[in-house]
Amino acid sequence: MSGDTGPVAAATQPDSTNLHKYDLEKGTELRFEVDADPVVVRMVSGKGELFGTELRIEQKYTFKKGDKVAIFTFHGCKLKLFGKPEVQYVAMETPMTFYINLSNALEGLRVQAETQAQSGPNVLVCGPSDVGKSTLCRILLNYAVRSGRTPIFVDLDLGQGAVSVPGSIGGVVIEKPADVEGTFQMTAPIVYHYGHSTQSINPTLYDLIMGALAEAIERKKQVDNSVKYSGIIVNTSGWVQGYGYQSLLQAIKHFNIDTVLVIDQERLFSELSRDLKNNNNTKVIFTPKSGGVVSRTREFRAESRDERIRSYFYGNITKPLYPYSFDVPFSQFVVYKIGSPNLPDSCLPIGMRAEDNSTKLLPISPSIELRNHLLAISCATNNTTEELSKAIVSNVFGFVAVTNVDMERQVVTVLSPQPRPLPKNSVLLFSDIQFVDLE
Ligand SMILES: Nc1ncnc2c1ncn2[C@@H]1O[C@H](COP(=O)(O)OP(=O)(O)OP(=O)(O)O)[C@@H](O)[C@H]1O
Ligand SMILES: [Mg+2]
Repeated sequence: MSGDTGPVAAATQPDSTNLHKYDLEKGTELRFEVDADPVVVRMVSGKGELFGTELRIEQKYTFKKGDKVAIFTFHGCKLKLFGKPEVQYVAMETPMTFYINLSNALEGLRVQAETQAQSGPNVLVCGPSDVGKSTLCRILLNYAVRSGRTPIFVDLDLGQGAVSVPGSIGGVVIEKPADVEGTFQMTAPIVYHYGHSTQSINPTLYDLIMGALAEAIERKKQVDNSVKYSGIIVNTSGWVQGYGYQSLLQAIKHFNIDTVLVIDQERLFSELSRDLKNNNNTKVIFTPKSGGVVSRTREFRAESRDERIRSYFYGNITKPLYPYSFDVPFSQFVVYKIGSPNLPDSCLPIGMRAEDNSTKLLPISPSIELRNHLLAISCATNNTTEELSKAIVSNVFGFVAVTNVDMERQVVTVLSPQPRPLPKNSVLLFSDIQFVDLE
């Protein structure tokens, strides 16, 4: 189990030779990328913010390997940076004024929504890979919270699974700014299982769960006016061609999006403007990319996915979590996989069309092949066939990871955020996503 912050804490005691002082002028930002050793930043005067979260004077913030950070100031500030980041420089040009104007316009729509007792703005952020989509969502959510709002953050990017784990989509009410060194607090998220890291594997299922999530969010808005007026901010994946593009159109429809922010790509902007031309309620806005956004390699993405799952179970330095490990007898272990490959028409008698199996539930028997896979714990049960069929579009309680399958003792060992037992008669859903528990 984790909780051992010793080595990291020791490494954060910087050598004074690695001290860098910055006097940032209004409207500039300090950007840096953290290499192997952690970097500590302290703001000594003025006002500064990290992707929309305000820094506190004299507080030490520690950034870890792989973090790519920008500290922006509207008013000017003095910073001390300890450590040896891979890259560090002050940028004079940033799109932050554009982003704050955008945020002010959204706030105007929230005020209007409140006076008319209607829903606030539903915003979707899209664009190709590595243009700063997730960062813009974070900035807009932070600004909304700083104005006293409680917007819903929806993450449709299966590869990152920011609300829960990769291979899922979800929504969560944001009540506090994100942690400077971490992410938003994910309290009581609404999560749907998909089981793969890209939409292309099962488009039918992706469309279905987006619809289910949108309905769940609508219900949430109906019972909470503050959420209703605050609206939603939807993050999407960087796949914007083929089904990637179609899935953006589906998301815009499901979530009743009125503002589409297209970062950086003119082609996507013009395609969406064309396809949404007849939809008077939806504005498409071309949004500049920050020069600071850093491209990430395939390996880095895989590592981030692992890190995301690790922190789902073990938390992080500021908020460690202590998961449980326990055995589940085969007799109580009910696992299904959603969808099986469709037979090509050419394999069927002439004139016959293959059945769509993409949302069929297929039982899986416990075997060593389950090892290291994530399993979603569906809110649906297997009490009746009708209950079971709801598993596809039911939200999930959370996830466990299979750490061992003992065929002799007929037990499966799982790593779980909650103590035993698993919810009674719960249906577990298989995920392609793997996690090797090295703690
Ligand atoms: N202004 C900036 N200065 C420095 N780094 C930045 C800045 N804006 C974003 N980044 C960093 O660049 C990286 C990519 O940004 P982000 O994750 O927002 O892009 P994305 O479009 O969501 O990528 P993906 O397509 O993988 O979802 C992140 O590590 C982020 O912290
Ligand atoms: Mg992203």
